[in-house]
Amino acid sequence: MLLGVNIDHVATVRQARMGHEPDPVMAASLAIIGGADGITLHLREDRRHVSDRDLRVLRDVVKVELNLEMAATDEMIKIAQDTMPDMVTIVPEKRQELTTEGGLDLKSNIDVLTDAIKSLKGAGLPVSLFINPDIGDVEISRELGADMVEIHTGPYADASASDREKELVKVVKSIERSVAVGLKTNAGHGLNYSNVKPIAAIEGLRGLYIGHSIVSRAVLVGFEKAVAQMRELIDGAK
Ligand code: PXP
Repeated sequence: MLLGVNIDHVATVRQARMGHEPDPVMAASLAIIGGADGITLHLREDRRHVSDRDLRVLRDVVKVELNLEMAATDEMIKIAQDTMPDMVTIVPEKRQELTTEGGLDLKSNIDVLTDAIKSLKGAGLPVSLFINPDIGDVEISRELGADMVEIHTGPYADASASDREKELVKVVKSIERSVAVGLKTNAGHGLNYSNVKPIAAIEGLRGLYIGHSIVSRAVLVGFEKAVAQMRELIDGAK
């Protein structure tokens, strides 16, 4: 099972001071050392975390799968064609959202998505669509000519204990259909250390894309060491 690590929130911490650290490029290298098979970044229209420089440098440095998440806009299509990540995941994007809130509304965006997929694939870029766990959306993705889909696991991750099984079944069924129609099939969003196992066990799944929980865990498991290093510097100063 491929593990794609999303480094957006390393950039979010950097942007809190608009400075240089922590550098998502360094985080990407450490993620790869830790076993990541891929690095994902979402270049947003408002550049609130990941920057154009991050994408450029990551494209140079990352030799595992580099996955660019982006909205299907002319600006992003051009950037993708210029930088050539290993794949592109088209996601819906709203300016005010804290994170991607839902899968693509495929039915309302058939023309935009058809054109975007054509332009990206024409440039040699494999295209994935981030979709809700819905069999109809799997069928539309195939008709649109996507190479891959990423099934949105957010509703499963956010479900109350009583609804979780129902949400898991939706994810499983969409994955089964997606694999059956020949799409490479991934899943992601909201996955963490306590809810990932039932998803990682699904047959046919190609990969998981995980960000926030890994960055959150990194802050905590690294905190003690970071303080100890500062302690040592201060104590050794005089
Ligand atoms: N997949 C997609 C399409 C996303 O937009 C995101 C969030 O950027 C993720 C996966 C990762 O989600 P999380 O940060 O909740 O692990």
